[in-house]
Amino acid sequence: MPIHASPRSRILGTGHSLPAIVRTNGDLEKMVDTSDAWITERTGIRERRIAPEGTITSDMATAAAKAALDMAGVAAAELDMIIVGTVTPDMQMPATAVFVQQKLGAGTCPSFDISAACAGFLYGLSIADQFIATGQRKRVLVVGVELLSRFIDWTDRTTCVLFGDGAGAAVLGPADAHGEDGAHGAPEKRSGVLSTSILADGSLAPSLWIRGGGSASPATHATVDQKLHYVQMKGQDIFKSAVRNLYSASRDALDRAGMTTADIDWVCAHQANKRIIDQVVTRLEVAPEKILMNIDRVGNTSSASIPILLDQSLRAGKVRPGDTVLMCALGAGISWGSAIVRM
Ligand code: ACO
Repeated sequence: MPIHASPRSRILGTGHSLPAIVRTNGDLEKMVDTSDAWITERTGIRERRIAPEGTITSDMATAAAKAALDMAGVAAAELDMIIVGTVTPDMQMPATAVFVQQKLGAGTCPSFDISAACAGFLYGLSIADQFIATGQRKRVLVVGVELLSRFIDWTDRTTCVLFGDGAGAAVLGPADAHGEDGAHGAPEKRSGVLSTSILADGSLAPSLWIRGGGSASPATHATVDQKLHYVQMKGQDIFKSAVRNLYSASRDALDRAGMTTADIDWVCAHQANKRIIDQVVTRLEVAPEKILMNIDRVGNTSSASIPILLDQSLRAGKVRPGDTVLMCALGAGISWGSAIVRM
């Protein structure tokens, strides 16, 4: 019988923020040559949220972070690190994390962004876990946030039907602080991050990118005319890679945690496409009732996807303390990862 890993960090609280504007598939039928039936059958998405003019990425990140801090019972001033996963920052520099730091009223803790697209939250979770494991940090905020509606060509039906805006956050702290009070019993049953696995394969970078605005194609009238500041994606390449890599990363995280899929209560996968999730969990042989899903209501919110879904599931009482959750995500880079967390 495998020995389950003992966690070093744990999630103290989660939060999310979704803008109020709902854009349905019916709305998109009026904008591009698409149909509710095509979008629903091919992706599982029925509607997505769109941030209103004037709302920026750090606003949504801050709202999600406040909810997570509140659930955790941690004051912003106690944070000693802020990690923001985003590919849609407030601006090219500085990091969106420093604006979040200021809006929260946190101190001068290190605050930086992670560019791992849809895997951004899991990259952040992995980094937070390492810093807490070494004892260097005690209260780390990890945010996944995207305002993709500002980086989408709303005349391109191959991308505009997929994405939505939103933010999700988690506050992490040492796992043993919780174990001391005995609330979750023996150390091997202790709540926390049991394993993480993060990877990238830059050979597939051209399958999903925003080419304009960086040093390769600095913003000019020509780059704007060529729409290089919008997301461009080869959907089928990403689809195939997602099914293959999310399966192997999930297996890797299970092995590292000394677990099998029988130990998993819930799968909280990146909400990019219902068909991708279905194929991954079928290969993992996880029962369908263990799959958490909100893609129909929020679409693909990239790095925000997992923390939004996790927070909604926790607040609804679906995921409960002590439940073991398998998380996995893949996005531009391509970057992907997985994690096993006992809540
Ligand atoms: N409405 C109607 N028809 C459409 C639409 C649309 N919105 N979009 C494409 N089509 C058409 C195509 O033009 C094509 O028509 P054709 O056969 O006449 O040429 C047909 O539908 C099939 O197109 P495919 O691209 O083959 O459709 P597919 O089944 O692959 O679905 C999709 C496309 C949904 C994009 C899928 O490939 C996918 O989900 N890919 C992965 C996306 C993803 O995971 N992205 C990563 C995360 S994002 C990030 O990192 C920021």
